[in-house]
Amino acid sequence: MSATPGRVRPRRIRTTSAMRRLVAETRLHPAQLVLPVFVREGLTEPRPITSMPGVLQHTRESLRRAVAEAAEAGLGGVMLFAIPEVRDAVGSQATAPEGILNLAIADAVAEAGDALVVQADLCLDEFTDHGHCGVLTPTGAVDNDATLVRYAQMALAQAEAGAHLVGLSGMMDGQTAVVRDALDEAGHTDVAVLAYAAKYASAFYGPFREAVESQLEGDRRTYQMDPANRREAAREVAIDIAEGADVVMVKPAMSYLDVLADVAARSTVPVAAYQVSGEYAMLEAAAANGWIERRRAILESVLSIRRAGADHVLTYYATELAGWLAEETR
Ligand code: PBG
Repeated sequence: MSATPGRVRPRRIRTTSAMRRLVAETRLHPAQLVLPVFVREGLTEPRPITSMPGVLQHTRESLRRAVAEAAEAGLGGVMLFAIPEVRDAVGSQATAPEGILNLAIADAVAEAGDALVVQADLCLDEFTDHGHCGVLTPTGAVDNDATLVRYAQMALAQAEAGAHLVGLSGMMDGQTAVVRDALDEAGHTDVAVLAYAAKYASAFYGPFREAVESQLEGDRRTYQMDPANRREAAREVAIDIAEGADVVMVKPAMSYLDVLADVAARSTVPVAAYQVSGEYAMLEAAAANGWIERRRAILESVLSIRRAGADHVLTYYATELAGWLAEETR
């Protein structure tokens, strides 16, 4: 068979762009992209985030415009993060009906209606003065079960504000079950739960800490996963699905494509992946220096995350990327 040189020519299916398009195994579509957005209480003008060029801390007004653009671009959804003016030990503003995140959820729903899945980050780190994702014990450890009580309250506040989906990013044990029960008991049976099932304690969240003005000292290694572990992701995902997760996520994305492929192979629910702030910052820094071709590198990075098994991708490039996809299909 292989004795005839050139009989088997894989290059044949790469000859023209029409041929390549025909045989492409993976495609990107705007509906598979979710835009994370930041809104900061008390801003009069949107404020740039230095380590994420092109990404802003929004005012409530500019957030509405970003949400409208996301809907116009045909994105799958937006994921809302908010920075309150006042922080305390238990993250009171996370559950206050007039808290900035809950107001922003209502704004986004008012702007987009059902055209987007309006998603909210369900975690305490933006709201606590110590910057941890939960409440602390008197000795300063993150108190899992006391945190679950706060998460349940937060889920209700977000559902009341109109969130279509709550994104559990705190990595507390039992969080999916507790939030699902709280939502159901309050009649919010249609509000979906996204479990950040496999969320790693990653250095790639660096720029996000600037974006949310994090006051964290230390790290999150007692609750987020060890980057060394692959098998453990399967365990986390199985637990979250058993507890009622509607979607599971792997985060970060680019350094965890093996984990993503594993999860995609096992999951019975849709799988999301989060191209996080540090991934964005690396691409932007290299592109700004002329070291990589910006547009091609961005497209390749998100395509690769899809190829590894993500059904949809959270990326700060979502709106821009959707614009490129529209150009390509024109
Ligand atoms: C926690 C949360 C974080 C990110 C999303 N949700 C920060 C963390 O876990 O430290 C990071 C996202 C990014 O880096 O883009 N609320």
